[in-house]
Order: sequence, then structure tokens, then C-alpha cells
Amino acid sequence: MIGRGAADDQARPDLPSIRSRKAAGVFSIVKRRRAGADRTKTVGMGLVGCGGMGRVIPQMVQRYDRRIVTRAVFDPDQRSLAAALKEVNPQARVYDDYRGVVQDPDVDWVMIASWNADHCAQTVAAFEAGKDVFCQKPLATTLEDCLKMKTAWEKSGRKFVIGFTLRFSPHYRKIRRLIDRGVIGDIISLEFNETLDFNHGGFIMGDWRRLTRYAGTHLLEKCCHDIDLLNWLIGSPARRVASFGGLDFFVPENEKQIARIGTDKKGRPAYRTWGGLIDKNPFTSDKDIVDNQVVIIEYENNVRATFHTNCNAAVPERRMYILGSEGAIRSNLLTGSIEYRRIGFRQRVRRLRARARGGHGGGNAVLGKELGQYMLGDEEPTPGLIDALKASVVCFAIDRAMDSGEVVEVGPIWRQAGL
Ligand SMILES: NC(=O)c1ccc[n+]([C@@H]2O[C@H](COP(=O)([O-])OP(=O)(O)OC[C@H]3O[C@@H](n4cnc5c(N)ncnc54)[C@H](O)[C@@H]3O)[C@@H](O)[C@H]2O)c1
Repeated sequence: MIGRGAADDQARPDLPSIRSRKAAGVFSIVKRRRAGADRTKTVGMGLVGCGGMGRVIPQMVQRYDRRIVTRAVFDPDQRSLAAALKEVNPQARVYDDYRGVVQDPDVDWVMIASWNADHCAQTVAAFEAGKDVFCQKPLATTLEDCLKMKTAWEKSGRKFVIGFTLRFSPHYRKIRRLIDRGVIGDIISLEFNETLDFNHGGFIMGDWRRLTRYAGTHLLEKCCHDIDLLNWLIGSPARRVASFGGLDFFVPENEKQIARIGTDKKGRPAYRTWGGLIDKNPFTSDKDIVDNQVVIIEYENNVRATFHTNCNAAVPERRMYILGSEGAIRSNLLTGSIEYRRIGFRQRVRRLRARARGGHGGGNAVLGKELGQYMLGDEEPTPGLIDALKASVVCFAIDRAMDSGEVVEVGPIWRQAGL
């Protein structure tokens, strides 16, 4: 359910009431009914990719309802396989190829959390086998692959949910609700960022995500669901984009920073505390992604936005500053703060304390629950394949702008994507 926070729902004489806006259909984020009317129904999940996210979301889904069970698993890395059997289901059948999972007759939903460049082939195979699919973000690493997935989805008539966990976070749902209530009027312009703790940045630069052939660009891999949030909140297609970025910090000359900072309480060196499955030195590793990027986007409805990402932050943030015709909202997912003020002489700043526990501002748990409801027959959670495709289109356009140094009109890419 979309939780009703105390502070943000308080009666405001200058705003339409919650009830009247509900009646007007303003709250269209997700409609839900009581899940699982058919108590005998069971659902089998098959995991393709059993790393960090490949285990977290199935665990959340199983926690939501015991009728949903992981029945098959595949991962080329024995460490991930062992962890899945231990944490998700020790009885799950183990396959040595993803095709085994998608063709297993006891698997209804294929849960894809492999490297991004593999999402397309695995999703298409699952649709061809008549299965429903949950796929981690991003959809795929090229527009061509995204469109293959769309075609296979349309042809199959099966269900598809994308792992845009931020959309499920109570934090962003509160912001969306403030906007829907008209608290800031119409959005005019906004700033957004994702700046990563230095150890998180070090992890990315030493992990499989450091190479575009596995992950796509940094913006696509890490920030496509931030770009999706912009699409969702602004509600209009991007018209044109510009961007600059580069790899300026995680270079061999800066390896000295590891010694300068020293170790954490557990004795782990700076920039290496996350320790992924692949754990290369982030300063000397081979990589072809950027570690900092700034973006400007202009939308068809004339809203203008900036987005800034940096992989070496002393002050990590996922901060939004949204300026509207009648007010402004300022928020930071990492501290849970949301504050807003209406434009006027006697207006004061109102603060919501919306710190959510768990990954992605509480989004992981809500996603697990709403996906579980959908698996058992309830209404579709947003976002789906089209939202994933739209976010991909904007990311592809932004990276094209960064690579070319030119302002890119997004229209031709929208048309290529059939949107
Ligand atoms: N929704 C989110 O907020 C979120 C957060 C983090 C990661 N992700 C996404 O989840 C996916 C997995 O990321 P992660 O953080 O779990 O990474 P991870 O490195 O922890 O796990 C990836 C797993 O995929 C396995 N793998 C590699 N090639 C494979 C293949 N061909 N078939 C099956 N498995 C394969 C690896 O062995 C590894 O176990 C990525 O698409 C990533 O972008 C989403």
C-alpha cells in the first residue's frame, strides 16, 4: 500500500483534499486489491543470476507469501549458487545453463539478475518458453536488445516487471504524492544527483560493472532508475539532452589515496571494503566507464532538469530539488529527509521524516511485496517494460550526447523505439 504519512497528508486549506484528488483519479501510482484470493495457487520462481540482487528480491517475495517458492537456480559462479541454495531455497534444482531454468515446468516466473548484457537473451528465452519475467534493471545495454525484448514480450502475452526499486521506495512515493496534490504547482525545473560513497565507487570500478561490454555505461547501469524517476515525476518525454563526463579520479596516479585514507575498523583498505565477486584494484583496473558525469535534460513539457553522478563522494546523496510554480521540494533519499515550502509570505518549511529501513529507501521490500501480489494474481505493479524502455532511451541519448559533445534531440530515438 502507499503509506499515508502523517505530516504530508495534513489538511491544507490552500490545497485540494486527498479525498477529492483520489476521487479525481489522481492517485494512479499502483492500484491494489487484497492479494491471493485463490489460496491454493502456488507460484514457482527460477533464478537466473544469483548474486546480491538475484537473491534479495526472491527472498523478499518468498517472505511476502509462502505460496511463492524458488524451484530452480542457475549461476555460472559457484559462490553465488551456494549462497542462493543456502539463503533462498536449499531444495531448488540446480541447472548448469539458464535454458534449464526457463524450461523447467515448475517455473512460472523467471527472475533475471545476471550481468546487464545477458538480460536480453535470457528474457527472450523465458518469453519463448511461455514464462513471466522479472528482470533487474537496466532492461538491456543496447536499444536493439531492448526492442528484441519488447517484441518477445508482446508476442508472448506474458507478464514483465522491471527491477526499478526506487519507484517502490516510500520516499519517492511521498514526493510523487506531494506533486500530485499540487503542493508545488507545476514543475518548472529540478536538480537531481546520485553521488556514491567512495567505497561504493571503488567497488564499481573493480567489479564487472567497470566494463561497458558487460554492464553498459555507468549512467545506464547505475542511474537508469534515477532517470526513470525523472520520467515518472515529470510525466513528459525528454526532448533534448546534453552531457559531459569522464574518468578523472579512478586512475593509477590516484592509487595513493588508498594509503592516505588507510583501513576501516575491520582492517579493509579504503575503496576495497565492498569486495564484490570480482575485486580488482579500482585505480589500476581495466575499465571503460566514467566516474563522474553531469547531464542537462529538457522535456517536451518544457521542464528542465540536471542530473549529476560522481563515484567518489565524501557526502553521498540521492538529492532532489524540485522547483514548481507554487513551491519547492527538497529531498535526500539517503537521510530520508523531505522538505517543502509553498511560495507565499506566511508559508513555512514543512518537513517529513521519511527514513525508510532497508535497501533503496525501503524500495526492495515494497517491490518484493507488490511483485508477490502480482504473481498471485493481483494488479500489475508499475513500472513495466515500457517504463524500462523509456528510461533506456533517455540514457542512450544522454551517453550519445556525452560521447559526441553535442546536444542530442531525443525524438529520432523515441521513434526508433516505437514510442
Ligand atoms: N534494482 C536495483 O536497485 C539493483 C541494484 C543492484 C544491482 N541491480 C542489477 O541486478 C543485476 C545483478 O547485479 P548484482 O548487484 O546482483 O551483481 P552481482 O555481481 O552480485 O551478481 C551478478 C551475478 O550474475 C552472475 N552471472 C554472470 N553472468 C551470468 C549469466 N550469463 N547468467 C546468469 N548469471 C550470470 C554472476 O556470476 C553473479 O553471481 C544487474 O543487472 C544489476 O544492474 C539492480
